[in-house]
Amino acid sequence: MHDFKYKNNNLYCEGLRVRDLAVRFGTPLHIYSYHTLTDHFIKLSKAFSAIDPLICYSVKANSNLAILKALVEKGAGLDIVSGGELFRALKAGCPAGKIVYASVGKTEREISSAISKGILFFNVESLPELKCIDRIARGLGKVTRVAIRINPDVEAKTHKFITTGKITNKFGIDLESAYRILLLRGKFRNVKICGLHIHIGSQITESAPFVAAVSKVSGFVRKLEAKGIKLEYLNIGGGLGIVYDRESPQTAQVYAHEITPLLKNTGLKIIMEPGRFIVGNAGILVTKVLYIKNTPKKKFIIVDGGMNDLIRPALYGAYHNILPLRKTFRCEKADVVGPICESGDFLAKERRIASAGEGEYLAVMSSGAYGFSMSSNYNSRLRAAEVMVSGKKARLIRKRETYADLIRNEIKG
Ligand code: LLP
Repeated sequence: MHDFKYKNNNLYCEGLRVRDLAVRFGTPLHIYSYHTLTDHFIKLSKAFSAIDPLICYSVKANSNLAILKALVEKGAGLDIVSGGELFRALKAGCPAGKIVYASVGKTEREISSAISKGILFFNVESLPELKCIDRIARGLGKVTRVAIRINPDVEAKTHKFITTGKITNKFGIDLESAYRILLLRGKFRNVKICGLHIHIGSQITESAPFVAAVSKVSGFVRKLEAKGIKLEYLNIGGGLGIVYDRESPQTAQVYAHEITPLLKNTGLKIIMEPGRFIVGNAGILVTKVLYIKNTPKKKFIIVDGGMNDLIRPALYGAYHNILPLRKTFRCEKADVVGPICESGDFLAKERRIASAGEGEYLAVMSSGAYGFSMSSNYNSRLRAAEVMVSGKKARLIRKRETYADLIRNEIKG
């Protein structure tokens, strides 16, 4: 499942000892395994080989150029949500014709540059946005392609902050409104509606919600065909869950087995937008123990990585396994907390965890997705360095920030 394993009681990333990397590059440090990253992409492609989908990796999960390039080289397209992600996607060498663009709030400037660059299509999330894209395309003398993002109103059975396919969520367009838009499609002269898009949420561990959503949307495709409306693409979004703790998410094969027949029936070209499935378990965050603090009620392991490096525990109460770099069988109950001035700054709470002494290192597992990409400079902390390991080679793919970086854009006056 991933290439972070103990050998002789030392944690390794592929062929390198993680402790050596921590000493060489400093902490906090994000370490990625190239093999795990690309292997997940390949696994998904193979599972769906019968329908040969375009897999557009979701840039928001981890947008480092080296990560994007590694996947693009394997044939991935990219799913973007901002002008900044478009910039990154092109810099990473992704052909514009393999980029799909979602987001409920695309600005005119973002729309205009995506049209000019010739992306595959926009995933449109509202009627006003569709009108805006049509107007901008007209101004540019172009016809641009869009897919309508459908809100299928299904329960994704995941954390409420990362559920997106319920009708009370801000995403997508309900089926009835989408139908009306499609009937009026001739009104939008500079937009060709070429497909439908769904994305029902993230960290979904069972196939049932995907099956429910795809079934709804494929019924809708048939209804449209009966009206003479022919589409080309169905984008089924991302959302595949991974193992953080004791989950047993569907594998790529099970997922493919469940939905391939439904997808085949649509006769449409399939696009998918996985993020976490590809990069989640391909990364860890290594952090150093600064102090052990015993209070009358609790033990705190205070580390040099905080909620600015990995916000998932603070924001969603998310569980990340925490392992010592040198295996030990002594365990104790503790909170693993960062240096930030917030009580929400924790990586683990009341966890039975391998005892780690001051100066030792811990690995926060499965932090490849929504780790660095959600990191910040809160408390004027420098964003961590990122390293990619392939076999016995490690390469810095993002330098640790400096104090000069912190104030680069500030104007003292
Ligand atoms: N497509 C769209 C339109 C999305 O909004 C997302 C994620 C994806 C694809 C990729 O989803 P994935 O395959 O990674 O589940 N920060 C949260 C996750 C937010 C997901 C946002 N949208 C977390 O750390 O759990």
